[in-house]
Amino acid sequence: IFIIAGLSILSYLLGSIPTALWYGTHYHGIDIRTMGSGNAGATNTFRVLGKKAGSIVLFVDALKGFLATGLAAVLFYLHLIDWQTCVTLKIFFGFLAIIGHLLPVFCDFKGGKGVATTLGMVLALHPMAALVSIVVFLIVFGISHYVSLGSMVASIVFPLLLTFGVFGEEIPTLIYFGYFIAFLVVFTHRMNIVRIFKGTENRMYLIPSKK
Ligand code: G3P
Repeated sequence: IFIIAGLSILSYLLGSIPTALWYGTHYHGIDIRTMGSGNAGATNTFRVLGKKAGSIVLFVDALKGFLATGLAAVLFYLHLIDWQTCVTLKIFFGFLAIIGHLLPVFCDFKGGKGVATTLGMVLALHPMAALVSIVVFLIVFGISHYVSLGSMVASIVFPLLLTFGVFGEEIPTLIYFGYFIAFLVVFTHRMNIVRIFKGTENRMYLIPSKK
């Protein structure tokens, strides 16, 4: 129980690492939360600081979710827990990393929207469903040029794939958790939704000349 408590705190702290904020402050001397959409996440880093910075933040933020989820697998391989407990703990540690990203202890609990960290987590939890969700994200983003819309639709597609058993029978806990995460992602994007309806949401173009 002490190991689980310790790893829970570690997962939250891992998620709390404010990659976008620290990268912006350290390499560019700016507070990312005062620019672009004001979000301390990979998308806003792409928007404000460019592709290199955005890719690094995306990678590190996803890694936070991936590693936290992986902590449960370590316990399983050390024969400390059974497979069922491992899956439950993967979900729990990954969730704590997402909470850490949304409400980071290192910067006044003002974090990002949790998309990249969720991506890392679902890649570790269910790689196939995660990859299909990434493809869905790319299609929605490619058509709409809204990263937010792509993120929301992809987060909803993930539990739907599990519900319809596209990759075989799934553990119910994972399916319920998928819907909960989708709800969380839509909730963190509530202002983006308002902007999409108003027509003021920032569009992102991979080829800048099309702007
Ligand atoms: O990663 C978050 C993304 O879906 C939206 O970010 O900066 O456009 O609000 P942003």
